[in-house]
Amino acid sequence: MIDLKLISKIDADYEVILVVNENLDDDLIKDKEILKNIKFEDHLNLFDKKRLYIKVKNISLESLRLALFKAVKILKSQNIKNFSINSYDDKNLLSFVAMAEGAIFGAYEFDKYKSKKSKNNIKEIYIISKDDLEKKQEYIKKGIILANATNYAKDGVNEIPYTYTPIKMADNAKELASNLKNVECKILDKKALKDGNFNAMLAVASASANEPRVIHLHYKPKDPKFKLTLVGKGLTYDTGGLSLKPSDFMLTMKSDKSGALACMGVIKAVAELGLDIEINAILGACENSIGKDSYRPDDVLISRSGTTIEVRNTDAEGRLVLADCLNYAQEFKGDLIIDIATLTGACVVGLGEYTIGVMGHNDSLRCGFVKNSKDSGELCNPLLFNDYLKDLLKSNIADISNIASSRYGGSITAGLFLDKFIKEEFKDKWLHLDIAGPAYLEKAWGYNSFGASGASIRAIVYYLLNKENLWA
Ligand code: BES
Ligand code: ZN
Ligand code: ZN
Repeated sequence: MIDLKLISKIDADYEVILVVNENLDDDLIKDKEILKNIKFEDHLNLFDKKRLYIKVKNISLESLRLALFKAVKILKSQNIKNFSINSYDDKNLLSFVAMAEGAIFGAYEFDKYKSKKSKNNIKEIYIISKDDLEKKQEYIKKGIILANATNYAKDGVNEIPYTYTPIKMADNAKELASNLKNVECKILDKKALKDGNFNAMLAVASASANEPRVIHLHYKPKDPKFKLTLVGKGLTYDTGGLSLKPSDFMLTMKSDKSGALACMGVIKAVAELGLDIEINAILGACENSIGKDSYRPDDVLISRSGTTIEVRNTDAEGRLVLADCLNYAQEFKGDLIIDIATLTGACVVGLGEYTIGVMGHNDSLRCGFVKNSKDSGELCNPLLFNDYLKDLLKSNIADISNIASSRYGGSITAGLFLDKFIKEEFKDKWLHLDIAGPAYLEKAWGYNSFGASGASIRAIVYYLLNKENLWA
């Protein structure tokens, strides 16, 4: 665990210095002659001088995250315990959040299954700043909380499907709640799901030896100003079911639980920040497997809401789980409902693998989310509903089909399927986040390492902090 401390002047084991926009004349650069004579791409590590120079395009929250990420990644295997870095954007309190996030992300590794564990010798980072150190330290703490909550979710998503079953997810959630103030956890087991008419979700889970669970995490601060409901897709594995995925597409589907883990990450962050926002998080945990009890294309399911669903593709399972979980979640009457899901490959095709698709009927809510989450550095793109796409979900034998009749616009038609399960009173209070692209990386980018990224956690918490004015 790395600690970040503010300090006015210090002799650290190492110094990290930024080269901003190729400007070598900056006062903070000490080895001007050396730097002018050596061509370097990304960074230059002067071992004998104990200085690491990192190039950044500018001084922004994202550049600072990336710089601290790189600094830790490069220095953590060296024989040093700490390093110092200037605060660079000293007047901007959010820059301290960003620096802390980058540093903690730099230290993240999922090496549980490696015989040889990676080293991290860095125990402390000193951020040099002259005044208001106490206030800035508070912001550093917020950054550490946000990054740790994100890393917590990454650990769950990275865990293998053999181990990380729905029951394991439920145990994890119970443990999380027991470690947080004002958080409770209730589990709905298979019998409770049958009694509660979670028929669409039970159909998805039917072929798996691992029983499904609905997990209800509830954060209730003393005097909540705002009530948020989260719903997360928690497919511990998605084979596609009888509409089996081709091998290449099945690989990485342990990440189909990313929405559920994002909900846990948000609860962890919000509870540790002590925000006055009540959260009910409903996680639909199950496995889309294949076997003699599989649900089939051609089946018709009577969902929890009573709406009947024609199954035309068992690989469009996330929306079935969410249909029942969204229906249940609306009983908790939020001011805002956000569902988070690795829902469609189409979202990755449409927006690219770095970006979250943001959907919902309410223009100002959707735009507000994109705007107020921006400081997090997570990329969010709005995708707009329309009635022509909605028509494509018509079924000849049931109220709705689980896939559209056209393969174009697949992430929007998936969003419109979910819309069928949003009651009239919540239509304008609902957002759907498709995180299929950024949730899991096969190639590292930015300050995200290989594997799970914890996508949407910081976007949601930054949104709440900015919109509700809760930073101070
Ligand atoms: N879990 C997948 C979506 C997914 C794809 C997530 C790629 C992450 C990366 C989802 O359950 C799925 O299989 N969706 C289908 C829907 C189709 C059958 C309409 C898809 O996207 O192909
Ligand atoms: Zn699927
Ligand atoms: Zn899926």
